[in-house]
Amino acid sequence: MSDRPIQTTTAGAPVADNQNSLTAGSRGPVLMQDWQLIEKLAHQNRERIPERVVHAKGWGAFGELTVTRDITRYTRARLFSEVGKKTPLLLRFSTVAGELGAADAERDVRGFALKFYTEEGNWDIVGNNTPVFFVRDPLKFPDFIHTQKRHPRTNLRSPTAMWDFWSLSPESLHQVTILFSDRGLPTDVRHIDGFGSHTYSFINEAGERFWVKFHFKTLQGHRHYTNAEAAEVVGRSRESTQEDLFGAIEAGDYPRWRFYVQVMPELDAEKTPYNPFDLTKVWPHADYPLIEVGTFELNRNADNYFAEIEQAAFSPSNIVPGIGFSPDKMLQARIFSYADAHRYRLGTHYEALPVNAPKCPVHHYHKDGAMNFMPNKPNPDAYYEPNSFGGPRQAPEFREPPLGISGDADRYDHRAGNDDYSQAAALFRLFDDGQRQRLFDNIAAAMAGVPLEIVERQLGHFEKVDPAYAAGVRQTLRIGAFSSEADTGSRKENALTQ
Ligand code: HEM
Repeated sequence: MSDRPIQTTTAGAPVADNQNSLTAGSRGPVLMQDWQLIEKLAHQNRERIPERVVHAKGWGAFGELTVTRDITRYTRARLFSEVGKKTPLLLRFSTVAGELGAADAERDVRGFALKFYTEEGNWDIVGNNTPVFFVRDPLKFPDFIHTQKRHPRTNLRSPTAMWDFWSLSPESLHQVTILFSDRGLPTDVRHIDGFGSHTYSFINEAGERFWVKFHFKTLQGHRHYTNAEAAEVVGRSRESTQEDLFGAIEAGDYPRWRFYVQVMPELDAEKTPYNPFDLTKVWPHADYPLIEVGTFELNRNADNYFAEIEQAAFSPSNIVPGIGFSPDKMLQARIFSYADAHRYRLGTHYEALPVNAPKCPVHHYHKDGAMNFMPNKPNPDAYYEPNSFGGPRQAPEFREPPLGISGDADRYDHRAGNDDYSQAAALFRLFDDGQRQRLFDNIAAAMAGVPLEIVERQLGHFEKVDPAYAAGVRQTLRIGAFSSEADTGSRKENALTQ
């Protein structure tokens, strides 16, 4: 007798034969009564769930944060309560535009989504490998993403749509410059930095608020591919990042990042020459230096990719006492958007899935719903609130200090008087000659087939960043080569060349 366990149905009954369907005669048709076959086929039909609407292709692993510096004067968040404290975490990396089966070595922003399983609930930082973003008003986000996904008619990615949108949205210049620089095509995700990007709040024990930005610096150093190198990699393997991350962790070569914060006193926000809640801007390090907080490493691969990485649900709404939001319009929209996406993608009780479940006690009054597998409450009479039966209570000791806001409700032009060029210029001027030429090459390559009118509009923005930027791209494009036929601006004509 084998000591292997007996295969069972999902209802727990032993399976006697998993090789042969139940048929009428050895050549005969299958019987309806073969419910094992039917169950197997029915389960298979339900194996796929919707992929994430963005950031579908991803790679993740588990690890641990260790606090190295005391920041308790800024935040009462318990995970930072003492130097040496360790908190388990999950980190999922991703590309933005590609579908679930996309190649890994593509030029794109990399997602950097962290879930800290703290003793006071899960804290998620759903960031990217860039400190800024393409748009600053959430009303623009679905349109922006449409330009990154497939054209409705050709079903191909559309450089025309991308450059049309970007050239009509100069607030994207900073992020576009990063995307087409060396950092836009990392060799893998062990060699990238992460950023919370938005401004959040830190709240200390005395109830004081500070504005904070989160930074994660890779301790592996930075590595990038040129477009040509990436094409060669994709020709060999579409899964180069998964191979790299999974393989390194399996081999015990655990990737590590140093965790820093930038902290701004609450009232400084009224004085900075830029809006500190504008997601297209960074805070200069000279004004707000990086403060070290800790180090984290990734040291465990998921045992089941689907259960633990695909079903992971991150949301900027997941904060813990001592950490709060800010007036950043983009952050405000994201606070709504992610949990809504999870309910659609994973179901009502997505937070009870093991990978998403907090590792601290959870006591709420939500009830029922599809696939409710929440444990029984200790007191079944306390199923509403307030109640007289000892149910969980609200806890005013965790109230946040009030957030000062003012102004008339209106749709304010977020571009009026906003400087979309200076920070992109500061970045461009950091690049050496080689970095600049690769930036020009990458932009020129990405503009193939784009109508001249759109190219010229974008060059106008590069000109305002730095004349050398526009001149470099123009020269690389060999603009004279754009023929009048390619230049019709007609969506139909252009669709053929996309
Ligand atoms: C994923 C919405 C901006 C980083 C997603 C998802 C949605 C979404 C619906 C899919 C969630 C899922 O199905 O699990 C939005 C909206 C935005 C926005 C409405 C702006 C208004 C941003 C920004 C960042 C970001 C600014 C980074 C700073 C990510 C990451 C993921 C993601 C990393 C993948 C999370 C994971 O690994 O599961 N976003 N997003 N998003 N977003 Fe955003």
